[in-house]
Amino acid sequence: MAKNEHFEERYAKGQIPWDIGRADRNLVELVEKRPVVACRALDIGCGTGDSSLWLASKNFQVTGVDLSWLAIEKAREKANKGTIDCAFIEADFLVSRIDNRPFGFVFDRGCFHSLNSGEEHRAFAENVAFHLEKGGLWFSLIASADAPQRDPGPPRLSVCQIATAVEPFFEILSLASGHLDSNRPDPVRCWACLMLRR
Ligand SMILES: C[S@@+](CC[C@H](N)C(=O)[O-])C[C@H]1O[C@@H](n2cnc3c(N)ncnc32)[C@H](O)[C@@H]1O
Repeated sequence: MAKNEHFEERYAKGQIPWDIGRADRNLVELVEKRPVVACRALDIGCGTGDSSLWLASKNFQVTGVDLSWLAIEKAREKANKGTIDCAFIEADFLVSRIDNRPFGFVFDRGCFHSLNSGEEHRAFAENVAFHLEKGGLWFSLIASADAPQRDPGPPRLSVCQIATAVEPFFEILSLASGHLDSNRPDPVRCWACLMLRR
């Protein structure tokens, strides 16, 4: 099954355990504690838009992008219910250029790790770098291969796989072991990876 059909089916059936109804606390902590100054931001694989909308509520000018038409429809519905300005675009980031570049901040939660091969990881990293200004930041939440594979569960990456893909384009500022924010008692272990565009 093609990647977009896979995710479209998951959204259609409501099989979306990653969709927790709020911005991931790893993102909230990074933005508030570092802090990351409000700027043009891109949320890649934004799903139904909670992290995008949270960033927009903090005065970032946000574009959320996702492969899934259904996810983008839901994200737009959420945006239309409130007064927060946030653009949502249906696109495959592996093969798309997104308007409004350069961005100062890129976020992805579970998108980079869902790609199929080292070549795709590298192409994704290169496209993130293309969309960022020099010195811009990419914060990626990536399921960790140091935890056992779950069934069902997200694809997991090792530090070596992450570094191989991103280092040509990014300096890794921090790579911390943690957990994806979750509504379940057993959250998925992840790498919280903060990168600086070279
Ligand atoms: C695990 S989900 C996470 C969704 C969202 N970030 C969240 O935290 O709720 C991964 C998302 O990435 C999207 N995705 C996967 N590959 C993509 C690609 N090449 N371009 C854009 N979105 C993609 C999927 O459609 C899905 O919504």
